[in-house]
Amino acid sequence: MNKIRAAITAVGGYVPPDVLTNADLEKMVDTTDEWITTRTGIKERHILKGEGKGVTEMMYHAVSQMLEKNNIDPLEIDFILCSTITGDMIFPASANILADKIGAKNAWGFDLAAACSGFLYGLEVASKMVESGKYKKVLLVGGDKMSSIIDYTDRNTCIIFGDGVGCVMLEPNEEGYGVQDSILHSDGSGRLYLHQKAGGSMKPPTHETIDAREHYVYQEGKTVFKFAVTKMADVTHNVLSRNYMTGDDVDWLVAHQANLRIIDATAQRINLPEDKVLVNIDRYGNTTNGTLPLLLSDFESKFKKGDNLLLSTFGGGFTWGSIWLKWAYDPK
Ligand code: UT7
Repeated sequence: MNKIRAAITAVGGYVPPDVLTNADLEKMVDTTDEWITTRTGIKERHILKGEGKGVTEMMYHAVSQMLEKNNIDPLEIDFILCSTITGDMIFPASANILADKIGAKNAWGFDLAAACSGFLYGLEVASKMVESGKYKKVLLVGGDKMSSIIDYTDRNTCIIFGDGVGCVMLEPNEEGYGVQDSILHSDGSGRLYLHQKAGGSMKPPTHETIDAREHYVYQEGKTVFKFAVTKMADVTHNVLSRNYMTGDDVDWLVAHQANLRIIDATAQRINLPEDKVLVNIDRYGNTTNGTLPLLLSDFESKFKKGDNLLLSTFGGGFTWGSIWLKWAYDPK
C-alpha cells in the first residue's frame, strides 16, 4: 500500500470589506505612507467592524465559500483545527463555534495558538491526523481579528497588522501529492520581544491593566526583525537542502507576510526569482494566522498539480518553520 499523505484539496479566504489605508494611518499616528511602504511593503489592511463580530465571523465566510465552491457537505468534515490568537472567547474554542455556524455536526475540533506560525503548526498537526488514516476530511482554518488587540495609538504596531482568514481542506492522497517534509522550531525565550502583557492567567484583566494599555500587542520590532530575517531564511533553506533540492526545484514560496524585507531575504537565501514569491502583504498587512492560507486562496489559480510549494513562517514565541508540499490539483 502506498504511503498516505495529507493533500490540500480546496482553499478559501475572506477579508472584511472595511479598508484601513496608509493615508488613514497618517491621520491617526505620526507616520507616512512612504515610511510604511519602504519599511514593510504594506499599503492597506482590512478591518472587521461591527458589534459582536469575532474571528469566527470571518472564518464562517471563508469556509462557507470554500464548501460551496467545491460542493462539500459540512457533514462530511471529521475534524476542525482553528489556528488563531484572537478566538471569539477565551473558551470555548473557536473551532467549536465555527462547527456550529457551518453545520459540521459530525466534526470535533480545537484551537491551536502559535502566533504567526499557527497555520504552519496547524498544517503539521492536521496532516499527521490525515496520515494516520483515521480522518478523511480535515478542515484547517487560520486567521485573526488583529484589530481587537492592536493599539491604534502605537505606530510601531498599528501600521503592520490587519484582519483576515483563510482555510484549507486536507484529505488523504496515495499518489505522492501533499505534505512531503517539515521542520518546525520554537524558542520561548523570544517571548520577551513579542507578546500581550495582560489578559492571561499571569496577569488577569484589571482596571490598571486596561489603563496601562497592556491588552494590546507589544513588539520590539527591530529585535523580532533580526530573528525573523535569519531564522525564516535558515529553516526554508534547511528543508530544501535535506531533501537534496535547491531553489530551482521550488515553484512557489508561500511565506508569512510580516514584512516584505523578511520575505525578500528568505527568497534570496534560496536563490528564488521574484516571480516565484507570492506576495499580498500590500493589500492585507500581517493577518497573523491568516497570511499563508490567504496566499493559497489568492493564488490558487496559478498552482498546477505537482508544483512544489514551500511554506515558511516566523512569529511570536518565537515560533518558526517550513513545510514542503506538492500541490494536488490543477486550476479548477
Ligand atoms: O509577524 C510576527 C513577527 N513580526 C515581524 O516579523 C515584524 C518584524 N519587525 C519589523 O517588521 C520591523 O522591525 C518594523 C516594521 C516593525 C519596524 O521597522 P524597522 O525598520 O525595524 O524600524 P525601527 O523600529 O528600527 O525604527 C526606525 C525608526 C525609528 O526612529 P529613529 O529612532 O531612527 O529616529 C522609529 O521611531 O523609525 C521610527 N518609526 C516610525 N516612523 C514612522 C517606527 N515606526 C514608525 C512609523 N512611522 N510607523
